[in-house]
Amino acid sequence: MSSTVITNIATLVTNDPSLGDSSPLGLVRDAAVVVDGDRVAWIGESSKAPATDNRVDAAGRAVLPGFVDSHSHLVFAGDRTEEFNARMSGRAYSAGGIRTTVAATRAATDEQLEANLTRHLAEALRQGTTTFETKSGYGLTVADEARALRIAAAHTDEVTFLGAHIVSPDLAEDPAAYVALVTGEMLAACAPYARWIDVFCEKGAFDGDQAREILTAGRAAGLGLRVHANQLSYGPGVQLAVELDAASADHCTHLTDADVDALADGRTVATLLPGAEFSTRAEWPDARRLLDAGVTVALSTDCNPGSSFTSSVPFCIALAVRDMRMTPDEAVWAATAGGAAALRRTDIGRLTPGARADLTLLDAPSHVHLAYRPGVPLVSQVWRAGVRVV
Ligand code: NIG
Ligand code: FE
Repeated sequence: MSSTVITNIATLVTNDPSLGDSSPLGLVRDAAVVVDGDRVAWIGESSKAPATDNRVDAAGRAVLPGFVDSHSHLVFAGDRTEEFNARMSGRAYSAGGIRTTVAATRAATDEQLEANLTRHLAEALRQGTTTFETKSGYGLTVADEARALRIAAAHTDEVTFLGAHIVSPDLAEDPAAYVALVTGEMLAACAPYARWIDVFCEKGAFDGDQAREILTAGRAAGLGLRVHANQLSYGPGVQLAVELDAASADHCTHLTDADVDALADGRTVATLLPGAEFSTRAEWPDARRLLDAGVTVALSTDCNPGSSFTSSVPFCIALAVRDMRMTPDEAVWAATAGGAAALRRTDIGRLTPGARADLTLLDAPSHVHLAYRPGVPLVSQVWRAGVRVV
């Protein structure tokens, strides 16, 4: 194992308030980071950095934790360009578009699905994402869901069973039978590959009672809980997520005061996915309202071929700052430490001694440039578990 010091960092984001300026981002100016093997070994002022085997000169640029993208749907085939085009000409988004991707995914070979997944992962890595969660949900048969999860599990530990994405087209006339399949045979086949279970709780997908049944079955099978909640309309998803102590309620676009109060009183992270509002021309989630109420907020891409076909966390940060009234500091925190919280992880999303050495060097003097310079490829180097990968 060799050690490396990165010196001359103009702005280092640690996400540890006990380091640096005591803000939530724990900013250290004129900083250095020592990486030993796959871990962060030391953080401090550049002039005090200890001797190491290797040295990298950041030359006055910014370093931050690798992004933690806690919500994506990357096991799919085909694309939905036509649907996007129609939407940009005024057609509304609905959950029904998922069926198009289900048909294409079922028709694809394992090799095609894996090649598509790795292509999007490489794309995300180039943009600074060092941890990603991904879901099934475009198979909707026992065999197709299990194979999606098996393929995903070869590339990440954060795998989510989303058999309850929509009622399978095969059982469209009998949703109760589909819920029984998801909570029975499908769950048994899928749980060995997954850490999490998720349900799309929405009109046109699953109602509150069905979502509760699916989530409690998943929990009994040893899975942690996540919920697609309150994306397209008001509904029971957010309060159900908090009641069941789900790690995350994702989307949170349409919230009542009671939903916000529940999130503020519980442990469930609100994961906001501005790529979806951007690509469906929908109303933005009100991040300011959640933050002011004391809710823990994560930011993620929701990368999928229907509602949000972006793998770029920097793009989502820029949207969150410009359109969701987050400060640049809040958005960067949400895309790193917030994502880690949404996955109930403490080893990632921060740069502090003992954390996994996942970090991004920007071609900019501070993290604020992620929002200040939207659309510019600022990520210039990425390390994952101590290994330089970009
Ligand atoms: O998170 N909301 C449900 N699922 C995805 C969309 C999936 C699709 O349209 O293919 C989402 O936005
Ligand atoms: Fe999603």
